This record gives sequence, C-alpha cells and structure tokens, in this order.
Amino acid sequence: VLVERGGYRHFMLKEIMEQPQAVTAALRDRVDFGRGLVTLPDLTLTDRELAGVSRVVLIGCGTSLNAAHVGRHLVERLAGIPAEAESASEFRYREPFLDPSTLVVAIGQSGETADTVAAMETVRQSGARLVTICNAPNSQAARLADHALLMGCGVEIGVASTKTFLSSLTLLNLLAMRLGTARSHLGSAASRKLVEGLARLPGNVAQLLESADDVEPLARSYYGRNNFLYLGRGINAPVATEGALKLKEISYIHAEAYAAGEMKHGPIALIDHAMPTLAIAPQDGLYDKMANNIQEVKARDGDVLAVLTQGDDRLSDLVDHSVFIPETAPNLTPLLATVPLQLFAYHIAVRRGCDVDQPRNLAKSVTVE
Ligand code: G6P
Repeated sequence: VLVERGGYRHFMLKEIMEQPQAVTAALRDRVDFGRGLVTLPDLTLTDRELAGVSRVVLIGCGTSLNAAHVGRHLVERLAGIPAEAESASEFRYREPFLDPSTLVVAIGQSGETADTVAAMETVRQSGARLVTICNAPNSQAARLADHALLMGCGVEIGVASTKTFLSSLTLLNLLAMRLGTARSHLGSAASRKLVEGLARLPGNVAQLLESADDVEPLARSYYGRNNFLYLGRGINAPVATEGALKLKEISYIHAEAYAAGEMKHGPIALIDHAMPTLAIAPQDGLYDKMANNIQEVKARDGDVLAVLTQGDDRLSDLVDHSVFIPETAPNLTPLLATVPLQLFAYHIAVRRGCDVDQPRNLAKSVTVE
C-alpha cells in the first residue's frame, strides 16, 4: 500500500494528527448512540457467555502492553471482573492459569509480534476464550483469535505507535462496557453516560490537536536534558509509561516511568534541577495524591511539566509548564493525556535531529524473538 505523508514532515506526526479519525473508526458500528449502549457485534458472544467470564487477562508488547495495563483498569471498573495485564513475552514462559471462564485479550498493532502470537497459541490450546484487538485483518493474531476487534485506523508507518494506541484504548473501553452490561455490573444510566463520553471523544482529541503547536516551545526548552521522570497514578500510570516509551524510542533520551506512589521508594533520590518530571494529573480521584507528588518534586528543585484538566489553576500555578486536556470521564482520560506526551517526544526528537519514523535499533514489528 502506498501511503503518503500528506504534507506532514514525518509519518509519526501525520499519524498523531489522524487520531480523531482513529477513534471514530474504532467506534463505528459498535455503539448504539441513541440507546446509549455498546453493541460490539464483532464480539460474537451472548450475554450469558459474557456473564460467564470470571477473569480477564490482557497481553501485548511495547505500546500494546501499555494499552493492556490501561485495559486492566477499565475491565475492573466498568465490568467488575478481576483483570490482569502482562507482557506477552513473560506470559508465554509462565505456566499461566487458564480455563474456559478466562478471557484473554491479545493486543497488537501488527498482529505479528512473535511473543504475542506464541502466547496466543498457548491460550488456544488451553480452552480459554481468546480475543484480539489489532489493526491487521490478515495477521496471525486475527487468524488465531476467536474474535478479532479490528482497529480499522489505516496503516501505521512510524515505528513508534501512536494512533493504534488510541484505537486500542477505545476498543478496550467498548469491550469493558460490553462485559459490564452483559453481567449487569453496568446499569443502563451509567452506560448511557459513558456512551455520551465516547460520542464526544473524537471531538475532544481534535480539540487537543488544534493546540498541538503549544508543545513545541516546551520541547525547545527541554530537548537538551538527558533524563526524564514520568509520573502517573491509577489508570494513568500506564500513560506515564507510554509517554516515557515514546521519548526513549525516538529521541534516545533516558526516561523512567513510575507509578507516582512508588516515587518515594527510589526515584525521588534522582530529582534535582537537571531532571525534569512529566506529571499526569487530571482531575480524577487521585488528583490530590498527584498534587502531593508534584509538591515533592518542586521541593527538590525539579522542573515539573504537567498534563492537567482545563481550568486547573491550582496545579498550573505550582508547576513550571502545563498542558491542558479537555474534561472527560475518568475512563477516557488516558486517551487525551497521551496526545501531548506523543507531541512532546516528537518535537524533542526532531530538535535532536533523530530519525523519527525509523529510530535506530527498532523495528515496526518484532516477528522474531
Ligand atoms: C515494536 C514497535 C512498537 C510496538 C511493539 C508491539 O517494538 O516498535 O511500536 O508497540 O513492537 O507491536 P505490536 O504490533 O504487537 O503492537
């Protein structure tokens, strides 16, 4: 397939800008907006079968692993089912407990990552139910899975995944809601409210991208730093990990991501004026906890760049730089908080003269172990 850069300097930037359409594609024909219900017809299991799921295991590699960790929170919250997330490369070499009431969700942009495919083969033999979320209809993952939820967001060329991360998160929301409704964990009023959030999501992402240029001056100030700390909590802890991964992949800067509650157990020792912290602190249930972490960084002379909810004067006064995301439901904040982190990594890599679309030592899909 011949894919053009469409006027953008890099495929990665083009793919970041395509994210509203990626979200729309993931929602298409899967949500009944009128009734406020997720239908997800490509998951061909009855309510009864879905209600029989007692445990959800989410696996993937790289960016898809970070999506799996967000998915774990979504399944617990929206469906009330025990859930865990793990790297496919670890999962495949354990002796994982799998039974017919376990639902395994294998996430992958390419559907060809060797570790993910091998893990799926193990799952198939176990009798557990197997779903894939992937962007390649003819991939091994799509063939191995009982149910393939296809992203349909168009080919992703940049080696560092961007739009397929947002596609994965959208589909994970739909999967968690579908499970939650089937087992009556999610009532119709709650479902309706969540669907309203989904309906606004492509517009929210588009709104964020309108101010994409605001991130460039931040990159100009910080591109010379050699170490970064990324902090987030709860459902946004994996977003910190994804932000740090983007920076490592394309700019070759060392970036460490931590669940902010763990900061006291080590990374706080690293903080000084030379080590900036990226803090993801939307106004959710963990906002005050993040505010404390930010204060701890500031007290040690560290610069803080924060991803905040629009209108948050309290934290924006405290930190060195703020990027704002529109207010949204807590299950959707990871999608919005990721976008400025992608742009930050992108602009830093460009400033450092790195090959953004083809970073050294990395491959788009890792088809050998
Ligand atoms: C490689 C790519 C990453 C990607 C990972 C998993 O490391 O460089 O961008 O996240 O593979 O790929 P998958 O196709 O399984 O999502």
